[in-house]
Amino acid sequence: VIKQLKAEGYAIESVQNKGYCLLVSPDVLSKEEIQYKLDTVTFAKNIKVYNAIDSTNQEGKKLALEGAKHGTLLVADQQFKGKGRRGKSWESPPKTGIWMTLILRPDIHPNKASMLTLLAGLATVQTLNEKINNTAYIKWPNDIVVNGKKVCGILTEMSAELDFINYVVVGIGMNVNTFEFDASIQEVATSLAVEEGKTFERVPIIQGIIKKFEKYYELFVKSGDLENVLKDYEKNCINISKEVRIISNTDEMIGTALRITPSGELIVKDQQGQEHIIRSGEISVRGLNGKYI
Ligand code: BTN
Repeated sequence: VIKQLKAEGYAIESVQNKGYCLLVSPDVLSKEEIQYKLDTVTFAKNIKVYNAIDSTNQEGKKLALEGAKHGTLLVADQQFKGKGRRGKSWESPPKTGIWMTLILRPDIHPNKASMLTLLAGLATVQTLNEKINNTAYIKWPNDIVVNGKKVCGILTEMSAELDFINYVVVGIGMNVNTFEFDASIQEVATSLAVEEGKTFERVPIIQGIIKKFEKYYELFVKSGDLENVLKDYEKNCINISKEVRIISNTDEMIGTALRITPSGELIVKDQQGQEHIIRSGEISVRGLNGKYI
């Protein structure tokens, strides 16, 4: 057992006739580390950990089809084909980030599934703010930004019939200890380590997100909307009261983001004073002057 632990990266000293001393516990992603003291009810009771995989969302959908339980968590050290929103790819280099997916089977109408993304975002931003002194914000609907750059994105995918959800996979990708970014995303992407000047253990962040997400999920399933979490969400949302540029496939509009509705939409007042309901999935929210925020 000691040999196995050493192979996994734990630094263990053997003292003759006394026993062993654990010197350094590395940032190992394992089922045991993640479940240690994690007092959830359904989330992450089943965990699959991969050294490398194409995409945890892709694998999550496969496992869900095969009957994986509600709350099953997939975590990978590296993804070869990480998926971002709108068909983009998601860079997922080895051991530097959190690449994880939760399989959920909520008993809700399919048109409410996008609200799960907002809950995951809220759980994530709150977890980060406990660790980096309140500098993380949600960029509606589902990016987490620190100092104006993106550290985390969420991709929610669903299999449903007209009025019934088979399963939802909520994929969370976070740049934790990443120092190098592809030239194409350098301007907009960052990591916790770059912003804070120190590295972070991934397991406590994963645990925090899972724990909070389960709490918000239970509240949401009971009430059927986001009413209970709106105040918390708006407090953590960088767009509220700010000017935003709403870009859809056909149109562009500049306005002020006013609030979030109980269904998770963003209300934006345009320059003529008219209010618009912006639904996630339809648009891209950009800052002014082409800036990311
Ligand atoms: C975005 O475009 O902002 C969403 C990025 C989501 C990335 C995560 S990483 C874990 C999960 N598996 C994937 O392939 N994508 C999501």
